[in-house]
Amino acid sequence: MATWNELFLDEKNIAVLPQPEIYKFAKKAEGIFPGEKLKLWDFCCGAGRHTILLSSLGYDTYGSDVSENGIEITKKKLRESNLQAHLKISDMTERPFQKVKFHGVFSWDAIHHNTIENIKKSVNIIHACLEEKGLFLVNLLSTKSGSYNKGIKIETNTFIRDDGDEAGVPHHYFDEKGVRELFKDWKLLCLSEQVNTYIETENEFYRTNPFSYTKWNVIAQRIR
Ligand SMILES: C[S@@+](CC[C@H](N)C(=O)[O-])C[C@H]1O[C@@H](n2cnc3c(N)ncnc32)[C@H](O)[C@@H]1O
Repeated sequence: MATWNELFLDEKNIAVLPQPEIYKFAKKAEGIFPGEKLKLWDFCCGAGRHTILLSSLGYDTYGSDVSENGIEITKKKLRESNLQAHLKISDMTERPFQKVKFHGVFSWDAIHHNTIENIKKSVNIIHACLEEKGLFLVNLLSTKSGSYNKGIKIETNTFIRDDGDEAGVPHHYFDEKGVRELFKDWKLLCLSEQVNTYIETENEFYRTNPFSYTKWNVIAQRIR
């Protein structure tokens, strides 16, 4: 059974380039908190590509992940670039930065790797850690994804893959009702479903796929 901690031991599993969405998200948060030094939290930061980007842009940057290897790689890359960030090894159901209030939190390709109960715990933790009007950007797997219903079903819409690089890793898939339920205490600034239908691909195309998969893109704001 592969875990992300094990996957990070192989360089091919480490995404290097940051997503442009995270840069734009930081700029969006700046618009909401003009003139403030923003505290931004990379929730499930993996090997740190976004933590490094935001630190290099001068934000007060925080990162957490359950993978010790991911955090170690992040620390090493920060050191090599003479950058700084606050890093903690932490499960997504824990609150590693107890007293800090964030202007923005984001989680890219990560929090759907759990059961719905634990995903709800994570979202509640993030809500509690945000400043009023603070933002949370997250992407989530959609039930329209080609990988939906694959693997062993452990509860409604949650499957553990039994093949490929993510064998053993749980994946929870959301329909619109599910996303709305998850964010019922938030103001949704963006709820979009990006549907990419792969009509024809070579074998194991996912290993080198430069395009996106079907998913929900969400920006939610803490309003109280
Ligand atoms: C696909 S990687 C994405 C990493 C990073 N967000 C990025 O965009 O490069 C998924 C990440 O979720 C983390 N993860 C999975 N389950 C977790 C959990 N229960 N608590 C904290 N992190 C977890 C993994 O360790 C891994 O770093």
